[in-house]
Amino acid sequence: MRARTAVIPAAGLGTRFYPVTKAVPKELLPIYDVPALQLVMDEAVGAGADHIVLVSSRVKTPIEKFVTPDAAVVEKVRASGREDLANRLARIGTDVKVTITYQDNPHGLGHAVGCARAAVGDEPFMLLLPDELRSGPQLLNALADSCEKRGVSAIELLRVPMEKVSAYGVITHLPGAPADGPFDIVGIVEKPAREDAPSDLIIAGRYVCTPDIFEKIDIIKPAPNGELQLTDALELQSGDSPITGVLSTVTRWDTGTPMGWLEAVVDAALSNADSADAARALFADRLAR
Ligand code: G1P
Repeated sequence: MRARTAVIPAAGLGTRFYPVTKAVPKELLPIYDVPALQLVMDEAVGAGADHIVLVSSRVKTPIEKFVTPDAAVVEKVRASGREDLANRLARIGTDVKVTITYQDNPHGLGHAVGCARAAVGDEPFMLLLPDELRSGPQLLNALADSCEKRGVSAIELLRVPMEKVSAYGVITHLPGAPADGPFDIVGIVEKPAREDAPSDLIIAGRYVCTPDIFEKIDIIKPAPNGELQLTDALELQSGDSPITGVLSTVTRWDTGTPMGWLEAVVDAALSNADSADAARALFADRLAR
């Protein structure tokens, strides 16, 4: 079966964006003129999702407001000439069902995914970490195709310099794979020291998981920091039978820090036909000062 549900964990408090996130969820920060959350939902829908499960926090009520259909807002956006954006807004909560579920205590990504269990049911599902943006749905689509074909979880991988591996989940794969994959993953370790890392292939922020991941989440033990790591549940899956790693082919932005967010905003302003010329002129003017 192909994944039709997309889980978006959005319960984090966004401490790296304090004081902004004291009142505004980081998922709603604008990427030039569209909230990051809309871009992430568009990616999921572009890969075939018709159900979005937001794992949120009860204090982040603006997220609920954002996904509540509002025909008047859609019409205003349409009247401003942004037809495509109006259509993307209009489908959220209508053609694309949205379920909000709560992670009342933040116990890590594995715990957040576990909170989506009832809403997902016994089906494969996409998982998109909303701190990261992608230039399009192609990679997520490839993960969903792979999971459907092979019946095992599929995760996005990136090759990074060894000095960066310790910030990520790092995989071990069966020998003999072409340099650009796909990879048969037989082990994953979360944030290893550089000298202990099994490879330079890290897990990026897109996954399509088979539903047995929930049983694995039930039995994993918290990491020393008290968090349930999704990586540990994937490691258990890869022990049952290799899961698939697909090298990322799309442009990525990590908007989890103010500078990463700025990069995404600048690139969005430069790539949007309506704003590109004005943005270019603005940046040239400021750099010349
Ligand atoms: C999480 C995952 C990690 C993955 C990373 C991708 O870590 O636990 O395995 O490599 O996302 O961004 P976090 O960034 O939440 O520390």
